[in-house]
Amino acid sequence: MQEYLLSIRGVCKSFSGVQVLKDVQLDVRPGSVHSLMGENGAGKSTLMKCLFGIYRQDAGEFFLEGKPFNFTDPKHALEHGVSMVHQELNQVVQRTISDNIWLGRYPTKGPFVDERRMRSDTLALFKRLNIHLDPDTPLHQLSVSQRQMVEIAKAISYDAKIIVLDEPTSSLTEHEVDLLFEIIGVLKGQGVGVIYISHKMDEIFKISDDVTVLRDGLYVGTDSVENLTIEKVVNMMVGRDLKDRFPPKINKPGEVHLSVKNVTTKYPPIVRDVSFELRRGEILGISGLVGAGRTELIQSIFGVRTLVTGEISIDGKLVRNRKPTDSIAHGFAYLTEERRETGIYPLADITFNSTIANIRSYRNKAGFLVNKRMDEDADKQIAAMRIKTPSKKEPIRSLSGGNQQKVIIGRWLLTQPDILLLDEPTRGIDVGAKYEIYQLIINLAASGKSVIVISSEMPELIGITNRILVMSNGRMAGIVDTERTSQEEIFHLATKYLSNTREAEV
Ligand SMILES: Nc1ncnc2c1ncn2[C@@H]1O[C@H](COP(=O)(O)OP(=O)(O)OP(=O)(O)O)[C@@H](O)[C@H]1O
Ligand SMILES: [Mg+2]
Repeated sequence: MQEYLLSIRGVCKSFSGVQVLKDVQLDVRPGSVHSLMGENGAGKSTLMKCLFGIYRQDAGEFFLEGKPFNFTDPKHALEHGVSMVHQELNQVVQRTISDNIWLGRYPTKGPFVDERRMRSDTLALFKRLNIHLDPDTPLHQLSVSQRQMVEIAKAISYDAKIIVLDEPTSSLTEHEVDLLFEIIGVLKGQGVGVIYISHKMDEIFKISDDVTVLRDGLYVGTDSVENLTIEKVVNMMVGRDLKDRFPPKINKPGEVHLSVKNVTTKYPPIVRDVSFELRRGEILGISGLVGAGRTELIQSIFGVRTLVTGEISIDGKLVRNRKPTDSIAHGFAYLTEERRETGIYPLADITFNSTIANIRSYRNKAGFLVNKRMDEDADKQIAAMRIKTPSKKEPIRSLSGGNQQKVIIGRWLLTQPDILLLDEPTRGIDVGAKYEIYQLIINLAASGKSVIVISSEMPELIGITNRILVMSNGRMAGIVDTERTSQEEIFHLATKYLSNTREAEV
């Protein structure tokens, strides 16, 4: 029997003269999970797109069960047992779940699409994967995490020998991640080889058998997970030890800046009677389980949710944020959790994407945009966030997923907001770049801005915040001093108002 299901040898790939893969190799054993790691822009997605027939490599070979192959397009790859969940969702949101799964390979009955069979096939697939969704639901009615689950189900429906998962958990809830890991376990048992890409170290160590690391498009090495530690992987990824994961907290919270009183939202998911104060120069974390109302709380403050009661004051003066333009005028900026869905102008260049939120400030007296200043700011941002790109004139969609995220984060930082609301700011960002983002947040706070950060990563909240507000089932369970708290205390608060009636639906 062939030892490896898939072998990749000597793959090179350039885009308009810039080499992004140099002599890369990878071997995947049957019935194993092989994680592919590396910083944003290291070449992970590009390598997988070469495998899947989206790009044609300039040099190098692929072997499936020992036989050389080269897929000409994704359809070809799928026919030969290789399927892939992409980092960016590419779905037809007006169509139903069934349509999206079977698009292009509808079961037909004579000249007609056999809708009944399509529906029952979808239900059978969902049953296997423990997913509870109605196949007739149009995708635009689903949450991003549900859409991601549909995409995963679709990849599995091809009964492939090799399944590539490129950051599949970026917007999944904890419950859905557990579900996915169970599915991966079953696939392994059937001898499938899974290639897994993620920036979440805990996932990598939980799910992998082997780990391969790329750096700047070069193959660094492969080892089995038992021989690795987080420190070793980070060292392979960035080429040096990262001593501190968090910069020093040099910000000093002062007077009360923002005051939020009795916020209760009108429509579910309900936020009930939340009051707190944010001081000038403070970084306040928001913690809680998925579904606890963290995002909804921030959205109520920013004016995208209707309130039944609630008062918001800035420096003691009452303000009304009925819609986002009100809040922006009051000095708020809001980095949404679903940046890829809502934040990117794919064809426009980096300069446009990073300055658009602030576009008015680039007009001169005659009303014309001053390109020079826009370009300067784009350059500053590329340097500050270490965005990996040959030029600010590149269309944003040619950047790696993590680097696109950095552009969007920088866009909001450039608006010079007084109060910054950040929802999961480091999702999809590699370990090295996370540090740069923490530094930017702390510097902003040190210069007198106030920041609220939602994060599911507890070490991150403890590493950069001054206080942490814990939400539980739509209510505030407490606010703790970061210096004097522990993960146990926060977890305890997060479960304070938990009832079993509000379980996450998948
Ligand atoms: N279509 C393209 N045109 C030009 N450059 C591209 C294109 N696709 C990718 N690149 C470049 O190739 C490099 C590798 O990108 P890739 O998307 O493979 O990174 P990645 O390792 O998946 O990163 P991330 O963790 O951020 O997803 C990046 O510098 C990116 O800008
Ligand atoms: Mg990628």
